[in-house]
Amino acid sequence: MCGIFGYVSNKKESLGPILIEAAKRLTYRGYDSVGAATFDGSKIDLRKDIGKVEEVSVRYNFAEMRGQRGIAQLRWATFGEPSQVNAQPHLDSDGDMVGAHNGNVVNNVELREQFIAEGMTVRSQNDGETCVHAVERYVNRGYEFIDAIRLAYGDLEGDYAFLIGHANDDKLYAFKKGSGMVVGLGEGFTCVSSDLPSILPMTRQVIRPQDGEIVTLWADRVEVRSVKDGKLIIRKQETVTESMDAVQKGGYPHFMLKEIHEQAQVARELLHVLNGNREVGSLVGKMKNARHLYFIGCGTSYHAALAGSVFFAGLARRAAIPVLAPQFIAQYAPSVDHDDVGIFVSQSGETKDVLNALAAAEGRGMACFGLANVVGSTLTKATSFCLPLCCGYEISVPATKTFTNQIVTFLYLAYRMAGRDVRELDRIPELMEQTLEIVTPQIEAIAKEINEWNDMYCLGYGVTYPIALEGALKLKEITYAHCEGMLSTEFKHGPLSAVREGFPVIFVAGPNDAPLIISGINEVKVRGARTIVIAEEDARLRANGDDLVVIPKSDPQISALLGVLPLQLLSYHMSVMRGFDPDFPRNLSKTLTVD
Ligand code: AGP
Repeated sequence: MCGIFGYVSNKKESLGPILIEAAKRLTYRGYDSVGAATFDGSKIDLRKDIGKVEEVSVRYNFAEMRGQRGIAQLRWATFGEPSQVNAQPHLDSDGDMVGAHNGNVVNNVELREQFIAEGMTVRSQNDGETCVHAVERYVNRGYEFIDAIRLAYGDLEGDYAFLIGHANDDKLYAFKKGSGMVVGLGEGFTCVSSDLPSILPMTRQVIRPQDGEIVTLWADRVEVRSVKDGKLIIRKQETVTESMDAVQKGGYPHFMLKEIHEQAQVARELLHVLNGNREVGSLVGKMKNARHLYFIGCGTSYHAALAGSVFFAGLARRAAIPVLAPQFIAQYAPSVDHDDVGIFVSQSGETKDVLNALAAAEGRGMACFGLANVVGSTLTKATSFCLPLCCGYEISVPATKTFTNQIVTFLYLAYRMAGRDVRELDRIPELMEQTLEIVTPQIEAIAKEINEWNDMYCLGYGVTYPIALEGALKLKEITYAHCEGMLSTEFKHGPLSAVREGFPVIFVAGPNDAPLIISGINEVKVRGARTIVIAEEDARLRANGDDLVVIPKSDPQISALLGVLPLQLLSYHMSVMRGFDPDFPRNLSKTLTVD
């Protein structure tokens, strides 16, 4: 949801390449437009436009930008269409300060009207510009710069992180409200960013400011102060030990393909962590005693929640209600209380829809737990206990390894609920490796054959229903084709009319569902559909479907998990064949910190 990066150096230097590299590593947060600003003495050099950093930085020769302080911003448009004028960073009225933000300022429209009425020059619709004018307002009224920033914080409603600098100064200032922000300290420089990956190649010494804190960055030190009273706050410096490999493509053409191939390894690590985590037992105890159990998430994380509820029913005879986070507020929050348990599922741990549902649940006293990948994210802090997904960085916008580890976690919890031996799950990573090896050539061939279609369906039943939904989401997300995921038995209740000669219908069949899927296959086949079946080897399915993509034999739950791997690969290859970048599909952002 937009990304910001700021850098303060102890010497005048070529800042362009530093800003370009940092911006590239923040691309996953937004790529509608990109901008860079440098402060060279009291001169501000601002260059920005729509497009990805690779194009814009060349078009505007960012590489030649010099100075001692610099700001870069990647935009995912909310307020104001993607355009040069709405691109960030933004100047104040007379061009002596420049700032950029990520997140959303929800009173943007009202504030813009006030600023115009106060005689300021408002050039765009964008709320990043509003943040700059919010500071300018108090500077105009005679406040010291830091106090103007503190007062602006009080006027800006929403969830965001903001970074600003003044031409006649040697510092940058940053603050955050409900959005992530990390400060880095290196040899002869300091920096600040929406997220860690853009900082890691430069330094491993970081500080994590909290909401309501203003960070002042000099080249050789940073200072954290409270917005409320301006008092100094001591924030401990941490050393990040994570490997840099996580934010490199490691020889793969795209992060998505790399992350697909990392799935077995991260599943292995996750199982190891779950086995050694004593809190899991207490979570299982709480879920056993809960009056109602809710699994809450959005997008891919919701699909994992849905799979979790099927596992809980099938393995532990325990009902768990899967629910899309915003709908939880309307449909369940009014009736929950402290006897109920909610598991909030999120890769980023920052999804606003999920955090809103969490706030509603907590307001009713519900016991709230999390499942998140990003350690230190809001969800990990706001829940009484949050299980880590142990995937490392997932850079590609389409979730892959975090989905499979969400599934593994739910499976593990269902096994524990059922009193089954979790060691049975240890075979999962190897089965995942085998699956990728077996299906890859066939999936590449199928991708070529069906790539001309811009409309298709992906159907599952019972334990494979969430997998079909997830496969359809992946296909939509990165091929831009319409692909609907559906319960296979529902297809005859309307969508069947879409079928014509060659129309692709993908089935994901669990080992116990072959007879039912065979009916579905034939219903569409006799009407001309091209059927692709993902299942364990089964002579009946082979005889009925056009293509059988065989996954290794296991049991229904693990088989469902394996079934998503060919779908990830199919969407990846179709996306690449169409000339798209699967890592950064148009209009999307990895972290959705807005309503
Ligand atoms: C998945 O490929 C999508 N990028 C998206 O549906 C995502 O799962 C959703 O936005 C929720 O994100 P979260 O897991 O970070 O909460």
